[in-house]
Amino acid sequence: MTTISEHTVTAPAGTTGAKARRLKPFRDDVHPKHKTWIRVYQGDCRDLIPRIPECAAGKIDLIFADPPFNWNRAYDEWDDALPDDEYLRFTKQWLDLCVRALAPNGSMWVNIPDDWAAEIVVHLKGDRDADGNPRDRLHMVNWCIWHYRFGQNTTQRFINSKVHALYFARHSSTRVWNPTEILEPSDRATTYFDPRTLDKADGMPPGKRVPLDVWYGKHWGRIQGNNKERRPNHDNQLPEAYLERVIRACSNPGQIVMDPFLGSGTTGVIAYALGRHFIGCEYSKANASSAWERITVKGPIRLGESLGQSTAIFPARRRRTRPAQADER
Ligand SMILES: C[S@@+](CC[C@H](N)C(=O)[O-])C[C@H]1O[C@@H](n2cnc3c(N)ncnc32)[C@H](O)[C@@H]1O
Repeated sequence: MTTISEHTVTAPAGTTGAKARRLKPFRDDVHPKHKTWIRVYQGDCRDLIPRIPECAAGKIDLIFADPPFNWNRAYDEWDDALPDDEYLRFTKQWLDLCVRALAPNGSMWVNIPDDWAAEIVVHLKGDRDADGNPRDRLHMVNWCIWHYRFGQNTTQRFINSKVHALYFARHSSTRVWNPTEILEPSDRATTYFDPRTLDKADGMPPGKRVPLDVWYGKHWGRIQGNNKERRPNHDNQLPEAYLERVIRACSNPGQIVMDPFLGSGTTGVIAYALGRHFIGCEYSKANASSAWERITVKGPIRLGESLGQSTAIFPARRRRTRPAQADER
């Protein structure tokens, strides 16, 4: 395995060296119904991204990245216990490559715990790459929180129950944004029965709202134990509900979604099922094989199940005084 300090990022395609090294996917296929394509590449995403034609051409519509957290997890092959400065350098390198790969209306999400969220936000908002060269700033759209119960137990500090879901776009005003794909019942409708919810000035249907920026609810927990979604040999698999929200809201059918850290394949299985083209990179051959099987054979387990669910934290405050509207039932 190449250590991080030995690693140099490959030159973007268009240069002689990159042209000379044609990249072969580990697996590729076309969706039988949607006719969208999928490609999984195996290796270090820092070597792969500059050589993937759509990345080199800046045509990726949506990037979702859930990198190793450097928590000393027993990944199949990746060393998850790097010295801090090496981890930060690795992080800035893959972030820069993703920024270059992003289409003009593209969005990028990063799933990251407390340890490195601040550094990532500062880097993406900045105008210099890891080597100090000028590059485009990204615009921060939301700093969402994925909240879960059953974080890893500890008595030494507060128990973690969240990860940051950082939402960036190349341009805020022209990014793809489909709020009506992901609406949920508003607390005004489910809890307070407030008549103002029936006549909304924000263009959303009666009783509905865009979800808040803290994400939780049924099917949103960490994938553990006998959870139906669970894939063998993955202790950091994200819930399908999370990727379904991101992919529906921030891409259209027929667009290109990319995940540089494929893992068990959660981004791929949802993107492919929803008729997006998909590119995944994964360092471990075993993980790449397993993700491929999940995406192309097994398919999603809960597609659509968490859409439209209320996340109200209070029970209804009073009794309903009128019959429920059809779209509130
Ligand atoms: C946190 S997991 C991703 C989990 C994934 N989101 C899911 O739901 O299953 C990170 C994955 O990235 C892979 N990985 C680590 N370093 C990598 C690199 N430099 N390039 C590509 N993949 C890498 C690891 O092998 C691991 O499978």
